[in-house]
Amino acid sequence: MTIPFIDLKRFEPDFLDRWIEKIRELSVNTRFMGGPEIEQLEKSLAQDCGVSHAIGCANGTDALQLALRAAGVGPGDVVLLPDFTFWATFEAIVNVGARPVTVDVSPDDLQLDFDLFVRAVEEHKARFAMVVHLYGWGSARLAQLRQFCKEKKVTLVEDGAQAYGVSYQGRSIYQDAEISTISFYPAKVFGAAGDAGAVLTSNPEFAARIRSMANHGRSDHYSYQYVGWNSRIDTLQAAYLNLVHEHLDRRLESRRNAAAFYREKLSDCNSFRCATPPDGYVENGYLNVLVFEPGKRADAEQTLKDNGIGFGIVYPGAMSDQEASGPVIAGRAGGDVARDMASRVLSLPLFAYMTEDELEQVVSVVQNKLG
Ligand SMILES: Cc1ncc(COP(=O)(O)O)c(C=O)c1O
Repeated sequence: MTIPFIDLKRFEPDFLDRWIEKIRELSVNTRFMGGPEIEQLEKSLAQDCGVSHAIGCANGTDALQLALRAAGVGPGDVVLLPDFTFWATFEAIVNVGARPVTVDVSPDDLQLDFDLFVRAVEEHKARFAMVVHLYGWGSARLAQLRQFCKEKKVTLVEDGAQAYGVSYQGRSIYQDAEISTISFYPAKVFGAAGDAGAVLTSNPEFAARIRSMANHGRSDHYSYQYVGWNSRIDTLQAAYLNLVHEHLDRRLESRRNAAAFYREKLSDCNSFRCATPPDGYVENGYLNVLVFEPGKRADAEQTLKDNGIGFGIVYPGAMSDQEASGPVIAGRAGGDVARDMASRVLSLPLFAYMTEDELEQVVSVVQNKLG
């Protein structure tokens, strides 16, 4: 049996029928823009995440750009970000005309290094920063980071593209963010049938700006208070997400169980360690992350391929090492942890409703051939 890295076709028994019926209903009524599906989705998001405002938009990258623009980031501003993330985090800063400064990550939780961050804020006199909740958990020092930013008047945009369902210190990870974002890219834990995203905030001024900017900066149908763009969420995507939402708790539980199973079974292997969320987190089971001993990953990749086990490398390079970052990067704080991690991480198959047999088989190959 081959096991893919991800399989999104494990629908609940009635899911596809209900989705097809929903497409029919929306199509018959040509209900393609706005409407109750979007209102319902935004209500669920705000409730789940403990915030006052959830604004749907076209994708998670736009969500970041909307959040940065709403926070007042503009041409010439320095924005700090972790050096280990998906390229969209970096790209969003450049696309709003600002100047990215990367900050290295901690090898323990694989998230932004708080001590380096503090120094980088001073050095660059930064007024804006981004933190990314990577892999389905977040920084061990997130509360400290938020407090520091508040004291220093640094607006912190939280990239929560991968974090739906994560809780931190007993609350949704999004709840205590000033402004945060979600991606509903299909492979995320709460995935759409295409592209979609959202911005979350409890600040009413940010919320009003985001809602307007995602709809051409409108104040009225043909009056514009900002130069925005079209980043409206599609009604069909909202309808699909509302159906997924009904099953989301079970999908999350299944992912969390798989993540915990890997961690339990693969705790004493010599060639790698299984990354673990810091204390205070309940992960969402987005990814399993193994960190290999230096130089050992290539052999592991070959062995997994030979045994029909899918895997992912998330991510194979640091932001500051990308060809496109050269001309636009305004600084790089810290050492080579991001680069080092990029050469050592590997993720095993993990998706909702993986079977016990599949999990056992992956574990058996990893224990016997990579351990
Ligand atoms: C950390 C991070 N930020 C931003 C994004 C961008 O989201 P999207 O693909 O919906 O534009 C993603 C997902 O792909 C992501 O993983």
